[in-house]
Parts: sequence; C-alpha cells; structure tokens
Amino acid sequence: MDRLRCGILGATGIIGQRFVQTLTRHPWFDLVSLYSSRADGKRRYEGTVNWLLGPEVPSSVSDIVLSEYGSILTGRKDVDVVFSALPADTAQKLERKAARKGIHVISNSSCHRMDRDIPLMVPEVNGDHLKLLDGRKDKGILVTNPNCTTVGLVMPLDPIRDLIEGEVHVSSYQAISGAGYPGVASLDIYGNVVPFINGEEEKLIEEPGKIMGSLKGGSIRSSPLKVVPNCARVGVKDGHLVSFSARVEKGTDADDIIKLIGAKKGLKGLPSAPERPLVYRKERDRPRPDLDSFSGDPPGMVVSVGRVRVDDGMLRAFSLVNNTIRGGAGNAVLIAEQCKREGYL
Ligand SMILES: NC(=O)c1ccc[n+]([C@@H]2O[C@H](COP(=O)([O-])OP(=O)(O)OC[C@H]3O[C@@H](n4cnc5c(N)ncnc54)[C@H](OP(=O)(O)O)[C@@H]3O)[C@@H](O)[C@H]2O)c1
Repeated sequence: MDRLRCGILGATGIIGQRFVQTLTRHPWFDLVSLYSSRADGKRRYEGTVNWLLGPEVPSSVSDIVLSEYGSILTGRKDVDVVFSALPADTAQKLERKAARKGIHVISNSSCHRMDRDIPLMVPEVNGDHLKLLDGRKDKGILVTNPNCTTVGLVMPLDPIRDLIEGEVHVSSYQAISGAGYPGVASLDIYGNVVPFINGEEEKLIEEPGKIMGSLKGGSIRSSPLKVVPNCARVGVKDGHLVSFSARVEKGTDADDIIKLIGAKKGLKGLPSAPERPLVYRKERDRPRPDLDSFSGDPPGMVVSVGRVRVDDGMLRAFSLVNNTIRGGAGNAVLIAEQCKREGYL
C-alpha cells in the first residue's frame, strides 16, 4: 500500500496535538506539514506549540517549519491529505477550496457536517455513507467527524437502535478539553458546573439523525431519531460523560441491551480500529472519566457504557467518550484509514 503524505491544519491546538500524537507513529500516513496562522517562513513547531501531551514535542515533528493555511490553496501539492482541527469560521474559508484543488480533507470542524454532499462519519456506525462521495465533482474528498458528544451518544445507540421507541433524552457532563486551549476561564469552571455550552445542544439535535440515517439514491435520509439534550461543562480534564434514557420495545430487559452493546464488532484491518468499539462496565459506579477515558487499543478509541437499567419500559444508561480521541482526532484518522482502504484516498 502506498503511503500518503499528510498535514494538520490547526496543529497547535488541542485536537491538532492529538493528530500529531496519532500521526507521528502511523503505519500508512507520513506527517510532513503542520499549518498555523503564526507561520512566518521560519517558525518551527517546537517553540510555537504549547505542547500539552507529555514532556516533549515528538522529535519527528519538532523541527518542522510551520506553513501558512493559504499554502494548501496554491495548487502546489505538498500533501495528499490534510486533517483539519480549525475553528469553524477559519475552516469554512479553506476546506472546500482545498478539496477543489485536489487535497483530501478530513475535518473536525462543524461548518460542513450537515452539508448534504458531505459524509459525517463514525466508521463503525455508518461506514456505508462514504458512498456519498461516489460521483463527486471536486478532485479531493471532504469528509467530516461529528461533534465529540454526538460520538459518545451514537456509538451506544447504534446496536440498540431497533429497540428504541420515541425520543432519546440526553444529559452531558463535558470535559474542559472539549473547549480547546486555553478554553474556559478557570474561575468559571474550578469547583463548578456550567449548564451552557455554546452551540452544543443544537449539534446533538441534528447530527445523530444524519449519522444514523440511511443512504438512498445518492443522499442520506435522516433517521427519525429525536434527541432532547441538556449539555453542561464540568471541571474534568478529559472525557465526556453522557447519560441517556429512552422508551424501549416492550419486553426488552437490561441484559438484552448489554448483550447487544458487548457484541458490537470493530472494523478489521484498520490501524486505529479497536477490536470492540464498545465496552460494557458492570461496576455500579462506571464509566467515569478518570478511569475510562483512555480505554481500548488504541487508547481512547473505545466508548465505555455502564449502568444500563430498564424499568417499566424505560432504558437509562451512561456512556463515556474520550472527546479529543474518539470524539476528535482518533475518529478522524480512522475515517481516513477507511477512505484509504476503500480507494477514496
Ligand atoms: N476539543 C475537542 O474535544 C474537540 C472535539 C471534536 C471537535 N473539535 C473541533 O475541532 C476544532 C479544533 O478544536 P480545538 O479544541 O483543538 O481548539 P483549539 O485548542 O482552540 O485549537 C484551534 C487551533 O486553530 C488555530 N486557529 C486558526 N484560526 C483561528 C481562529 N480564528 N481562532 C482561534 N484559533 C484559530 C489555532 O492555531 P494557530 O494559532 O497556530 O493558527 C488554534 O491552536 C474545532 O472546530 C472544534 O470544534 C474539538
């Protein structure tokens, strides 16, 4: 298999750093370019980035001279694929244009997630949606990664979707790292819970329907799944905890749900795919961010589920997603791996 040259847009941010961590040791992709608005032709990655993922910036990228974002639009193909970790307004100006120039884009930004021609992917849930790209006009592909909390919800709902009746009520307890760096002011979050995250509930309302929708006649028909969310920021570093409840088909008990969740198989032959993407924690006080945020192999790619109960036809449960890995860079790299294996990259 030919290796692909890749770059990261927004390489200095929290998701950008997770991309660096994942891609510096990737068997299929060579990380060759890092993009920043602070690029001046001389600045290196080390010395510019405020590295948060360990004692040292990985040596293979520390000396990379940062490139300007606009350089992906020049038509010079320094990279085959870019992973985008940009805020939505900056991404909006770059991502489609880059795809038209022939650069493949896998994006974490929200700006194109709901566009009708763009796949919004969790590979284990809706891998078939990549077919949306068949017959595309742009030379490069553009594929998007969902909102981090959406990932933590759709992964456990996927294997039980046929049992759910009516709306799904959701409360999220979201980590500080979900707000990027420097993120939320310490005086707002230390010892506190903030019951508002700008734009988050809107994303949780619209994205699950697209991801769990079906591909018909070259477009996605949204699932009728209705999500009723409440989102809060909590003083936790990594890992979004999600509680969900829904009415389930008559006769369903907790064991039925637990079996379906435990039986969900991973994707074979993709380096970032865990053997089982969902793990059920049977302890009465799990999952929790401090113990379960880095579950799985690769770490952080498994969504943990626990406290499944069914009483009077109502299911209640918790899930936990690592927001920067399965909810961010890790899921995006898994999408790229699937795209490469299926010949889209
Ligand atoms: N954090 C998460 O858990 C998470 C999960 C899923 C998706 N996302 C999405 O991923 C993207 C990146 O999030 P993040 O958490 O990594 O954010 P972040 O820590 O704030 O990093 C964003 C990076 O984008 C660059 N940038 C370019 N234009 C910018 C502008 N106008 N304002 C601010 N930064 C700008 C900055 O790098 P330079 O200064 O070097 O240009 C910055 O380091 C966002 O779209 C976010 O919604 C985040």
